[in-house]
Amino acid sequence: MLLFHLLCLPRALAVLTGLGSVKQRPLQSPHEYDPLASHDFEAFINRTLDEFLTPGVAIAVVHGNKTFSKGYGYANIHTHDPVTPRTLFQAGSTTKSFTAATMSKLVYSNESAYAEISWTTKLADLIRDDFVLHDEYATTHITLADALSHRTGMPRHDLVWTISDPTLKEQVRQLRYVPLSHEIRTEWQYCNLMFSAVSLAIETVTGTAMGTLLREWIWQPLGMHETFYSTSETLAFTEQSDQVNMARGYLYDNYTKVQVEVPYSDLPPANGAGGVISNVLDYIRWIRMFLHPSSSSNPISASAIKTMTSAHMLMAPEWRPSTGADFYALGLIGSVYRGHELLGHNGAINGYMTDMQWVPELDWGVVIMQNAYSLAAEIVLWRLLDDFLLTPEGERFDMAGTARQVQAKKIEQLESAREILYPEADVSAAVGPALPLSAYEGLYHHPGYKGLRLSKSREPDGAALPGAPLPLYANPATRSYLNISATLHHVSGEHWWAQVQSGPGSWLADEVMRARFEIGANGKVKGLGLQAEPAMAELAWFEKVE
Ligand SMILES: *[C@@H]1O[C@H](CO)[C@@H](O)[C@H](O)[C@H]1NC(C)=O
Ligand SMILES: *[C@@H]1O[C@H](CO)[C@@H](O)[C@H](O)[C@H]1NC(C)=O
Ligand SMILES: *[C@@H]1O[C@H](CO)[C@@H](O)[C@H](O)[C@H]1NC(C)=O
Ligand SMILES: *[C@@H]1O[C@H](CO)[C@@H](O)[C@H](O)[C@H]1NC(C)=O
Ligand SMILES: *[C@@H]1O[C@H](CO)[C@@H](O)[C@H](O)[C@H]1NC(C)=O
Repeated sequence: MLLFHLLCLPRALAVLTGLGSVKQRPLQSPHEYDPLASHDFEAFINRTLDEFLTPGVAIAVVHGNKTFSKGYGYANIHTHDPVTPRTLFQAGSTTKSFTAATMSKLVYSNESAYAEISWTTKLADLIRDDFVLHDEYATTHITLADALSHRTGMPRHDLVWTISDPTLKEQVRQLRYVPLSHEIRTEWQYCNLMFSAVSLAIETVTGTAMGTLLREWIWQPLGMHETFYSTSETLAFTEQSDQVNMARGYLYDNYTKVQVEVPYSDLPPANGAGGVISNVLDYIRWIRMFLHPSSSSNPISASAIKTMTSAHMLMAPEWRPSTGADFYALGLIGSVYRGHELLGHNGAINGYMTDMQWVPELDWGVVIMQNAYSLAAEIVLWRLLDDFLLTPEGERFDMAGTARQVQAKKIEQLESAREILYPEADVSAAVGPALPLSAYEGLYHHPGYKGLRLSKSREPDGAALPGAPLPLYANPATRSYLNISATLHHVSGEHWWAQVQSGPGSWLADEVMRARFEIGANGKVKGLGLQAEPAMAELAWFEKVE
């Protein structure tokens, strides 16, 4: 739910758009093409970073055997350390393509130990004790390809891994406590936890840490020597290097109007859904592999690449100006823009966003990494794509306009949350809660999502937030690596709505959800029903335990 979309971009982006007729344009000859060189492009970057509150961005474009790259703005706004093409960023959900590729090594392996593994192998056959769902049929039928293409019937349930700090194994084991929302293979639903499950299966079957496999099987063969799977390894590397720095992640606090630095301790533990840290130059090597699937130096076979990039599940029309069906492959998204197939994936995590896309038939690709949770990277991507395709003015995809609409829609959703969540509510007839607010304070527990502590005062500063009538605040009861907090706003009786925030300023990722207390026959609060998975109407039951 929360953004965190480690994701694939915000569900908020699931708006827009149609596109007019597609005309093929002659492409520039390779010797003329230099996408980052113009003064106009630099002015565009400056404007975009400025408007979308993004401290820095690194860009690399690959065309044929040429790579163009540049860094703009700051990796660290206090030290003014610049972004360069070698600056490292959290790459978020672009990690999913590496998880799929690592699994492909087992699927296509000739080693007898892995002979049973194919894309249709059941996850439960590889991690039987860990992989248990509510539904017996789903438990025993979800395949590796289902998990890697988001067609398992399981919605995000991201609070399972963001409200506390579970290990990879715990993340997967908690799936048994949260409901599926659809039958298997009936609906495309983004689910980070299924990628965690695949990475756990890989580690279990090989007896080897995912970070080691990624390095040995994929990154070393491709020459991706500045790519990591753990923050501490990354920092150890950058401390020794005077060439490579790590970008700090920033969240813009709209109350104080400052960029708040995300502590390194608030970055997610490595898992198959997100967790890769890299730079745009290394990512170009990754993109090149997909552009040249038959190259003998590739670490995965052409047939593995073919499967990884083929449609496994249709996606509902998204925000892209697609002229064909959008589909999810394995850890990759496919769509059609102006008649050209476009492949790639984006990623977002606590203070960082990344997008990588390529057009196989034109031997062209781009990767953008930035240190803010904003839509700047998307805007840059579409500009570079339209520049490359020589799309005429007037036919270009207006991603900046789309981003403004997404933001406006999000603000409206936050401002009208009560009306949206409780269309039947009548403010003039609202009644107060049954008990004094202090009776609702305490610890609430859900087996899958873990603990929430409710309080009348806003931790950690103890002050009430202005403008929230009868507020209650909810904070994770134990360490959570995302700085999650929720404000509960009263509606009527025991009905409330909650705004879940993930740290200061990440309002684009805020979620609103219904909440309802239950009072027992003893006159005490029994627990809280919370719409912890916003895609489902169902409320998850948090029992009041103290
Ligand atoms: C973009 O911003 C940088 C840093 O402020 C500045 O040095 C550069 O001149 C600007 N470029 C353009 C084209 O505005
Ligand atoms: C790079 O592309 C140019 C122009 O197409 C070609 O002449 C050259 O051989 C290519 N170099 C490599 C290393 O492939
Ligand atoms: C596995 O064996 C097949 C058939 O002998 C061969 O074509 C393929 O290259 C082998 N794959 C690997 C990863 O060695
Ligand atoms: C940010 O603050 C400005 C006022 O300073 C306000 O107009 C805008 O709606 C706020 N945005 C969000 C998302 O809260
Ligand atoms: C966590 O978020 C709260 C506001 O939501 C903020 O006051 C606090 O500084 C944040 N802490 C960190 C470590 O980012």
